[in-house]
Amino acid sequence: MVDLSVNLGGLAMSTPVATASGTFGYGFEYLGALDYSKLGAVTAKGIRLDPWPGNSMPRHAEVPGGLVNAIGLQGTGIDHFLDITVPHYMDQVKDAPPMIVNIWGGSIEEYAEVAKRLTEASQGESGRVIRAIECNVSCPNVKEGGHTFGQDPEVLRRLVSAVREKTTLPLIVKLAPNVPDIRLYVKACEHGGADALSMINTIPAMVIDIEKRRPVLANRTGGLSGRGIHPAAVKLVYDAHKATNLPILAMGGVYDASDAIEFLLAGATAVAVGTATFTDPSVAGKVCDGIADYCARHGFSSVGDLTGALQD
Ligand SMILES: Cc1cc2nc3c(=O)[nH]c(=O)nc-3n(C[C@H](O)[C@H](O)[C@H](O)COP(=O)(O)O)c2cc1C
Repeated sequence: MVDLSVNLGGLAMSTPVATASGTFGYGFEYLGALDYSKLGAVTAKGIRLDPWPGNSMPRHAEVPGGLVNAIGLQGTGIDHFLDITVPHYMDQVKDAPPMIVNIWGGSIEEYAEVAKRLTEASQGESGRVIRAIECNVSCPNVKEGGHTFGQDPEVLRRLVSAVREKTTLPLIVKLAPNVPDIRLYVKACEHGGADALSMINTIPAMVIDIEKRRPVLANRTGGLSGRGIHPAAVKLVYDAHKATNLPILAMGGVYDASDAIEFLLAGATAVAVGTATFTDPSVAGKVCDGIADYCARHGFSSVGDLTGALQD
């Protein structure tokens, strides 16, 4: 029997497979479509303080090797999330996997406030499922010039430390892939007090309708996810792992167990399945089974031994 449990910076996961934010709703929408016991965690769609409408339609374009989306972080806001969504998740999903709550904001103060609310909630009944915070830093810093938080190491460090001050929950920082040297951002997260990293978020992208001579997405640009970004994500995980001891939750084009195992060998502690769920809602369970099978075939009694086991 292979031990599939891992610890992601204080988040105990029964398997190394999670779902990626924005691709698995708020955790209950896929009930009946897959075996939830195969999930070590569910990551909820991004939450901020107030409800947010997201971008205008169209917001998706399918491309060879993936998907370009510009949903624009549509969400219900923290009150609705805590009062309705989390109780519904606990009620509907038997033995609910721990939830990683993905958060975002327009200012450092907003991130810190959302983290505080989640931490307070986790000290009550909701603590059965609210077990970690994941900061999405790929959104504009409205208060300080509009660049994304994840693209300036010093701003990133300040953001992480402000959130750290407000939470005792495991703090995962989700890094932006489009930076010149990922190690600077990894170090900024370490200095800010992060417990773990997650990577990668989508890669900036654009699709043009040549007949109309217009961008396909109403927002003009969006983020590329899916198969096509996988090798780039593996390289970033590999570089980040060499620069830090922080555990890494890896994502980007996981469609089967071999994609996931690549991430683990490159240095990830766990993986998240995202866009692949849209074509096969049960895929995360298959990824989990495939990892267990690989471990058994290669003589690994614990999946944790795969982390960074690349023969360089
Ligand atoms: C439709 C869609 C919505 C997403 N929403 C979020 C989000 O709210 N917060 C976030 O941090 N990442 C979000 N992401 C990024 C994914 O969590 C993931 O990092 C990325 O898609 C790469 O993984 P994949 O190739 O397996 O999809 C979203 C991705 C997609 C496709």
